This record gives sequence, structure tokens and C-alpha cells, in this order.
Amino acid sequence: MLQEYSQGVNTVGDPTWGDNGKGKVIDLMGQYADMVIRYNGGPNAGHTVKNELGEFKFHLMPSGIFNPDAVSILANTVVVDPFVLEEEIIDLTSKGVTIKDEQLLISRDATMLMPWHKVRDQLAEQARGAGKIGTTGRGVGPAYSDRTAREGLRVGDLLRPDFEEKFLREFTWQSKLIGLMMDQGITEEQFFKLSAQFDELSIWQYNQQLRDAIENGPFDVDQLLHRMNEAAESLGPRITNTLPVIRKAFNEEKNILGEPGQGVLLDLEFGSVPNVTSSHPGIEGFGLATGIHANKVRNVVGVNSVYSKRVGSGPLPTELHDEVGDKIREIGHEYGVTTGRPRRCGWLDVPALRRGIEYGGVTELALTKLDVLDTFPEIKICTAYRVGSNEYDFMEDASPDFMEHVVPVYETFKGWEQDTTQVDSYNELPENAKRLVERIEGLTGTPVRFVGVGPDREATIMR
Ligand code: IMP
Repeated sequence: MLQEYSQGVNTVGDPTWGDNGKGKVIDLMGQYADMVIRYNGGPNAGHTVKNELGEFKFHLMPSGIFNPDAVSILANTVVVDPFVLEEEIIDLTSKGVTIKDEQLLISRDATMLMPWHKVRDQLAEQARGAGKIGTTGRGVGPAYSDRTAREGLRVGDLLRPDFEEKFLREFTWQSKLIGLMMDQGITEEQFFKLSAQFDELSIWQYNQQLRDAIENGPFDVDQLLHRMNEAAESLGPRITNTLPVIRKAFNEEKNILGEPGQGVLLDLEFGSVPNVTSSHPGIEGFGLATGIHANKVRNVVGVNSVYSKRVGSGPLPTELHDEVGDKIREIGHEYGVTTGRPRRCGWLDVPALRRGIEYGGVTELALTKLDVLDTFPEIKICTAYRVGSNEYDFMEDASPDFMEHVVPVYETFKGWEQDTTQVDSYNELPENAKRLVERIEGLTGTPVRFVGVGPDREATIMR
């Protein structure tokens, strides 16, 4: 069954707000792929993969890295924090996963996410006050702004003979920019408080260095340059022009798998602006990263849990602010992989799912986390939005202005109140669970091919 999905070009996507368990499905499908391409976002993403080697949480590493015969690629449209990537390589190596140079390629044209992008991200959030986007604080938005403005450093710059010169020019410019932001939007005292927030968010060793850098007003240029030169050495052999590599694989009819970060409803164009990320998690993003257009993609597997969730600010009409929502969060371990923030949880929002399926080009669904609802006597799904006297079965308008008026219309299901985590074929699932799956399939008009009943690779039922 999985092999069928691994012929030609396929992508795995998330039709809603991310965090639905793509990592697991990519890990599964990646076993049959010749090439796995991470095509958008940066270290804001958090993909969890649990397999026989242990549990891994990736921010940048393509989740197909466990297949030693596949080439994993970080495409030009990803924003790459070289220090995060270095750490992920070291972490994998320490757990016995060897990554040969030719097994992980980094596009020379990817924008490099630098410490100043993180500072700008945090300063901008601070200045937004109540209108906060709720970003992950990883600098992704500012890095993409630099890219769109045709500025900033690219990964390939690390290998240029004039890198130091370029780096110093960039450093001067960014320091001025941050100086301006501080003068206009924030006092020095607030700035130091901000650096304390890095403590809470900190998961990477180099944050210590970043804090020091901030306190030293704000960056220690020599120290940073030294780290960049180290990164150039360690990542250098993997940096290349990835488009021709992808084109060759495509022309040789290799099995190519696309892996996004985030979900379609966080897309810069299709999401609830401004509560979105700065890239394109849907099928268009794959085209920009690879030159392979949507009409060449066979399957787009949309991974979504059987309930809805979102991290950060922005509309989530089915959000449950009660003990049911808390129960979903606790059983489902719904805490952000990148920031540890509690995810907002609620019943499945089908109008939102439909938007993500349609705009994200999803051809089939992988419904994850069915087991999280095992103990619920009653389960709901939102089948439509009511706004005044109108009803919408599709999220026609994602804008916060529209979404704040939406009242969810629910359909209620009897729970199955039975453990599903050991079930390994669809027919063995409790009748009430199958009823829910089939109703979601009917409402979305999209076949459900996989049902997840636990975090392990094996806990996936094919259909
Ligand atoms: P940014 O991508 O850090 O700028 O954050 C913008 C919005 O996207 C915020 O609401 C984040 O919580 C959300 N976001 C970014 N990355 C992810 C992800 O990997 N999963 C879920 N939400 C994300």
C-alpha cells in the first residue's frame, strides 16, 4: 500500500494549522523514497518522529533522514539556521544515525536565518502588543522578509571567498536596523527583559551565546564570525545547487517525497493574515522549491488529527475552553515541539479542513490521533459555520474579521470508549470509530487512507 504512494512524486501536507503528525507519515513514506525534500519554513517547525532508534524532534532536518538510501534536501525556499542544523546532525550522529555528506544536501540559495532575525522577531512581537501574531520567536518572519527584499545572507555565501566581507556588511546593516527598532519601539530595559524570554524558550545551546551577544550590545561580531566559519566547515560539503539535483531525479523517474513545515491554513496567502507564517506549506510551496509543478504530483497526503488544534494567536472557532479541551490536550500531549506552548484544542473543524484540502491540493487524508478520543463518551465535529442567517460548509473567508462572527454547527457522535492503540486493521476498529472516520471522509469528499492510533511507526492503520 505504502509503496503505491511512493511511485513518482508525492507530498505529505497538513491541511489545517500544523502539528498534526506529518513527521510520522513522512518517516513511513520516506522508507520508500529516493529523495525527501523539505520545502518551506525553518526552525519554527517541529516534527516528531518515533521509530526503533528512539524519539526525535526535528526543526529543520527532513524526516526522511532515517532512510540511508534516500537523499534528503533542504530546498532553496527553506530558511536555514545553520546552528540548529548543526545541532540536529550532531544529535542524530550521537544516537547512531550516520548522515553521509551526499545524504543531506542544503540548497546554496536558501536564506540563512541569523541570530539577528530572532531578535527582530521578538522585538516586532513586543511592539505589536495586544495584536501579537504569536510567532514561535525563531526569526522566520524576518528571515523571509529579507529574502523577499532580496537581502540577507544565503547558505552558499558561507563558501564564498569574500564571505567575511559580506558577513560584516550584513552585520552592520542588521545592527543598525535593530538599533532603530529599539529606539522607536522599545526601551533598553524592555530589550533586556526580552532577552530573559529567550531563557524560557531556549532549547538550543547556542542561545547562551545569543544572550551574551544581546547583552554585549547586541552582537559580538568576532564570536559570531568564528561560529559561522565553523558552520561553513561542517556544513560545506552538503551545500550545493539543489534544483539540478532534483531535476535529474525527476527525469530519472525517482520516487520523490515533499515535506512541508506548518499547515495550509498558516499559509501567507490562504491563512488568517496576520496570524500566519511567512511561507507556503501547500502544493505551491513544493513547486517553488523544486520546479516540479502540481500537475506532476501524484498524491498529496493531508495529515490531520481527528480534532482541531492551533498554537499561537488566530481564529479557531471550535476551540474548547473547558475540561474537554484540557483532556484532549493532556491525552494528546498537545504542546508545541518548538516552543513548548500548550496548543489550543477543539473539535474537528470540517469547513477549515475543506479549505486546507482544496487550497493545499490534498488528494487523500491520513487521520491521526484517533486513540486520543478513546475515552470520550461523546465526540463532536463541526460541519458548518453559522454567521447570522447564513451557513457555510467551507471556510470561505479566513480573515479574523469574518472568523470572529462564526458559530460552529456541530454533529454529535457516540464515542467508542475502547482502547484502539493495539488495533492493526481498519475492520477491527470499533464501529463508532469507523462511523466517525467515514463521516469525515464523506464530508470532505476525500478518501481516508491512513488512520493513526499511536505515535509509533507501527501504530498506523492502512486502508
Ligand atoms: P512564525 O512562523 O514563527 O512566524 O509564527 C507564525 C504563526 O505560525 C504562529 O501562530 C505560530 O504559532 C505558527 N507556527 C509556525 N510554525 C508552526 C508549526 O510548525 N506548527 C504549528 N504552528 C506553527
